[in-house]
Amino acid sequence: MVRTMRLYACLLLALPLVAQHGRYLNESKNPAIGNPEAIAAGGKLFNGSCAGCHGRDGAGGRGPNLVRRALWHPLSDDAIFKSIRDGVPGADMPPTKLPDDQTWNLVAFVHAISGPAFENRNPGDPEAGSKVFWGSKAGCSNCHSIRGKGGRMGPDLSNIGGSRPLAVIREAIVEPSKDLFLLGNEAVTVTLNSGETIKGVARNRSNYSLQIIDRAGTLRLIDMAGVKDLAVSSKSPMPDGYAQKLTSEEMTDLLAFLARQALRTAEDTYSRGKN
Ligand code: HEC
Ligand code: HEC
Repeated sequence: MVRTMRLYACLLLALPLVAQHGRYLNESKNPAIGNPEAIAAGGKLFNGSCAGCHGRDGAGGRGPNLVRRALWHPLSDDAIFKSIRDGVPGADMPPTKLPDDQTWNLVAFVHAISGPAFENRNPGDPEAGSKVFWGSKAGCSNCHSIRGKGGRMGPDLSNIGGSRPLAVIREAIVEPSKDLFLLGNEAVTVTLNSGETIKGVARNRSNYSLQIIDRAGTLRLIDMAGVKDLAVSSKSPMPDGYAQKLTSEEMTDLLAFLARQALRTAEDTYSRGKN
């Protein structure tokens, strides 16, 4: 069902355009961070002691979804360490009495699930995933480009693995309408004073102008003074149903391919002791 919020431009413009990107604050030098064994050990501890509140793999339950939370509330590794050790006073999170090394394993795990997909070892075959991405069954590249190749209606995915956790990428594909506002990719319909209507995806918005990529993939700069009505849809222009359309193997491979897409040099990665 398409639910459309109809708002007058002046009302809507009071809201900032939220364009959060997967961010990670200053990373710790602790050797557990990015170390696959520490992450695996931390994952076991997490599923034993923390998943009761935070859900398996931090996906949320009684307590908050840690992956999603990290998008709007990034924490440094040291801050995560402190939250685990001391608990969160005033909230429902108890302190722990784990030794330092086990606490760091937990930090490494939380970092891995909430940090950019590119920094983790992910299951699946990226080569096979590339074929899914560029192939006609999924049709991803009709709308998305990577390094200059592909469609322009959807966001460029050249840095998707370098900027978002794997769980967030998966959600964007499987449940495209869930987090539109958070990701700053609203589908909008603009009615101009002249009567013309333009449908597309809003990219940048200020009090005076609005950039829209229209259905044909053309970037349009619109002067807000000429706008009569601006409607924001809560439904993504991205097709629904990929969870059914693709096999689970195709999905895993596609995610492995997208996780690899990062605009960083190999040197960046090696100097940080990751991958
Ligand atoms: C009894 C439920 C509960 C348990 C058990 C629990 N948490 Fe939490 N946790 C919470 C709640 C509630 C919050 C949100 C606190 C807030 O709103 O500031 C939270 C917040 C966090 C945060 C974010 C801290 C921040 O400052 O934003 C991290 C990281 C975290 N938990 C990790 C863990 C880990 C790791 C474990 C296991 C050792 C764990 N939690 C166990 C309930 C729990
Ligand atoms: C009809 C055009 C269209 C097709 C086909 C399409 N997408 Fe999208 N996609 C979009 C648009 C528009 C957005 C931005 C709005 C949103 O987030 O839903 C988007 C958002 C995304 C995002 C989130 C981007 C971000 O910055 O967080 C990812 C990831 C993504 N698409 C991947 C895919 C993959 C993988 C496929 C193929 C399985 C695909 N898309 C197919 C149009 C499309």
